[in-house]
Amino acid sequence: MYFGTDYYPEHWVYPNAGTPEEPESRWQRDAELMVAAGINVVRMGEFAWGLYEPEEGKYDFEWMKRAMEVMANAGMQVMLGTPTAAPPIWLAKKHAEILPLDQNGLAKHEGTRKAYCMNSSVYWDYCKKIITELARALGKHPQLIAWQIDNGLGGHNTESSFNEETRRDWHSWLKAKYETIERLNDLMGTRFWTQIVTRFEDVPMPMAAPTAYNPALLFDWMRFSSDTIVAFVKMQADLLHELTPGIPVTNNLRQLTRCFDHFDVAAVLDFVGVDSNATIKSKSAENACGMDMLRSLKKSGIKTPDGEDGFWVIEQKAGNVNWQEVNSLVRPGIVRLFTYQAISRGATGVLYFLWRQARIGSEKFYGGVLTHDGRGENRVYKEISHIGEEMKLLAPVLRGTRIAAEVCILFSHENEWSTQFGAQPNRYFNQREHIQLFYNALHDRNIAVDFARPTEDLSRYKLVIAPSLKLLAGGEADLLKLYVQNGGTLVSTFNTGLVDEHHIAPDNGYPHDLTDIFGMEVLEFDPLPPGEENHLTFKGAFPTSHLHPARLWCDLIEPKECQILATYAKDFYGGRPALTMNTFGLGKAIYIGTMSHQHFYYDLIVWLRQLCNLFPLLKVPDTVEVSLRQKDDTRIYFLLNHQNSPVRIQFYKPMHDFLTGSTLQGNYDLPPHGVLVLDEQVSQKQEPAA
Ligand code: GAL
Repeated sequence: MYFGTDYYPEHWVYPNAGTPEEPESRWQRDAELMVAAGINVVRMGEFAWGLYEPEEGKYDFEWMKRAMEVMANAGMQVMLGTPTAAPPIWLAKKHAEILPLDQNGLAKHEGTRKAYCMNSSVYWDYCKKIITELARALGKHPQLIAWQIDNGLGGHNTESSFNEETRRDWHSWLKAKYETIERLNDLMGTRFWTQIVTRFEDVPMPMAAPTAYNPALLFDWMRFSSDTIVAFVKMQADLLHELTPGIPVTNNLRQLTRCFDHFDVAAVLDFVGVDSNATIKSKSAENACGMDMLRSLKKSGIKTPDGEDGFWVIEQKAGNVNWQEVNSLVRPGIVRLFTYQAISRGATGVLYFLWRQARIGSEKFYGGVLTHDGRGENRVYKEISHIGEEMKLLAPVLRGTRIAAEVCILFSHENEWSTQFGAQPNRYFNQREHIQLFYNALHDRNIAVDFARPTEDLSRYKLVIAPSLKLLAGGEADLLKLYVQNGGTLVSTFNTGLVDEHHIAPDNGYPHDLTDIFGMEVLEFDPLPPGEENHLTFKGAFPTSHLHPARLWCDLIEPKECQILATYAKDFYGGRPALTMNTFGLGKAIYIGTMSHQHFYYDLIVWLRQLCNLFPLLKVPDTVEVSLRQKDDTRIYFLLNHQNSPVRIQFYKPMHDFLTGSTLQGNYDLPPHGVLVLDEQVSQKQEPAA
């Protein structure tokens, strides 16, 4: 278990700290304060290129070596960033072609970070040079345990650039994909508005234009831009593996909010590293969902510095940010709560962003572990020191523990793009909100969830939920069929199978290639504006706690073999199926033709729990978030109270409070924003329910 912080030693030299005689003397004090807070790892150097190489070919890594020595003497480990997210100004001055062009063909200029085109071979060469020099100078340092490649991939809308070199790479990418120009014209549907091309070199980049590009072209562009990011990361990963074998590489990904395929990036990293803003929008289920998504990016082949599974939170916000309209303080207890949330969902390293509020630059009022004064007497430092104490206790017992989920939600970036960009049947439909409705219902019933792309092996899951797979490749549909045929339970919804991977609509019914497993066909769909509703009328055993509305989208379903669980209440399709279930092979395929309010999804999960034999981790009030990490016969439960008021829990059997050592039975009041860690030894056959 690593517990750390993001440190910028380059900020803390004379005249901002230290003295003219000993400009770096502050580093020692920082290291002492870190150790006193229980910190055992620091990330450094991800923006240090301009100091490593102040002039082309003149390198200076000595200052970072001295910083690493200070950390070494204090017993701390180091993660180093490759500094490619912030190229030095001299490089842009010498090679203006590295600057990225936007959709209007205008350059984004130097003078900040991220001003580079990832297709620029000049930039790639300079990156390789600085990484090689860095790895030679510091790569053998005994404190070095990991590399962070670049920083904030895709941040500040840098997922794509429109340079001439990008255009050349785009055309090569298209050639590799389509092989012949006829195939490209056919599969891209260029007959539409007759945008037919006779040479690959004529395929446009989607630059500013009078109206929408063909979605087939747009999604290829997004795949290509994503592949560019993956290639840039892989170039660095390969180089680092060659120069410093055995040192794992990672990156600080966001919660799948940027336009590139995070699964593909994770595949070229040794372990997943993430940024978490969890302390800002403290919506527990949304943050939990983000963490589960990030954990799910890499399920095998994980290599962390200490050989643990899981992922690292490389930037866990220690306090307020600086980019909201109002950057309020983070309330006491919240940093601890979200640190535990990350750990409870599989993190094996948590590093706080940032060690000390910067005195210089554009992030100077960002909350840090230390405030500007650097005294170490501030509230957040004390809170984090307290967490550090707890981490020392917890680390040995967490070793080797994992999250085991029996439910999986399908997610793919390509599909999300298809529901987001270009003309949509209903602009008010939002795929993330749709996913969140299912996720909330599982989260609030304390059922662990993984995320997966539809192409993954799903056989380990009892239940697979596939919200709105609008873009569904033929191969993906086949895999879903196989999953159900072999006994799985699949839940799909409206806005599924409307196009294939080439963005071509089917001529054999929606959802394409899946009408057989659902035993029905969607003939038409009726998008509804916000505020307009239909209602669901249920038949049979489906438990209904409320009157459930049908919102935003109503599929008109023609039943064949399926069983009808609910119908629409009114309109010209009143009485027609809205919710169906079909037995296919050994499994079941459930189809929800509309979107409803949160209560519907709660009811759905109650019903599915019985159908699929799913158990909540612990029986506690809904407002308490529960997660479980387990190994052999050890179970570690995390109970988090996200409310600002105490919540009463009833323990029907004695449970061991790991952090205090006491035994809990009967009533227990979990304080506001409180955390409880319970450890349990069980025989392997026992079901996880207290
Ligand atoms: C991160 C970035 C940091 C800092 C932070 C502010 O994504 O890696 O350098 O800028 O955002 O939110």
